[in-house]
Amino acid sequence: MILQNKLNINEQIELHLAEEKISKQKAKQLFDTDEINNIEVGTFCGLAQIHYYLFCDIYDFAGKIRDVNISKGDFRFAPLLYLTESPKNIDKMPHRTFDEIIEKYVEMNIAHPFREGNGRAMRIWLDLLLKKEIKQVVNWNLIDKEDYLSAMERSVVRSIEIKHLLHQALTDKINDREIFMKGIDISYYYEGYYEYKTEEL
Ligand SMILES: Nc1ncnc2c1ncn2[C@@H]1O[C@H](COP(=O)(O)OP(=O)(O)O)[C@@H](O)[C@H]1O
Ligand SMILES: [Mg+2]
Repeated sequence: MILQNKLNINEQIELHLAEEKISKQKAKQLFDTDEINNIEVGTFCGLAQIHYYLFCDIYDFAGKIRDVNISKGDFRFAPLLYLTESPKNIDKMPHRTFDEIIEKYVEMNIAHPFREGNGRAMRIWLDLLLKKEIKQVVNWNLIDKEDYLSAMERSVVRSIEIKHLLHQALTDKINDREIFMKGIDISYYYEGYYEYKTEEL
């Protein structure tokens, strides 16, 4: 079933392409306008700001907590019943060290607050947090798609794999435009979007 959208598209391939194009343009704009520096770091509110920024032209649910239960593979993300409390509890989690940050990231993934676009919004959110707290970001180019997705799947029981994978890909180039733009492309590639290059939009 196709997601209801603001573009009045009712064909899946067309929506997939439009979503990629428009939200990548927004991601690029987020960086180039410096609006990225206005995002609240390390909170659900900040994540919702990013999600809204990327998807507000496409979906009514941009930046809003989902109103349906969702699952991927064998895993059911937080049931709706808990979804108002869960972001508040995650906000309270500490995020001073690399390990604490990844543990918070894992919990946010378990919450999966939005109907779609959690992965892409959360990876920007994670980099902002790493940048602020440990002065490093992830060079997503160094992380293979299947390794990433299997480590995330595994993270709901054990976070060691995702910690290892992200740690070996850290870079000090925290304000590098190319690292950011390529990171967006890789992040979208993980989710099956690879028709456009962010830099060229
Ligand atoms: N089986 C799983 N268990 C836990 N997390 C998963 C699982 N499968 C995917 N994920 C996480 O969910 C993310 C995708 O969520 P989604 O809301 O579809 O984001 P996007 O729309 O950006 O693709 C992946 O990047 C991954 O981090
Ligand atoms: Mg998705």
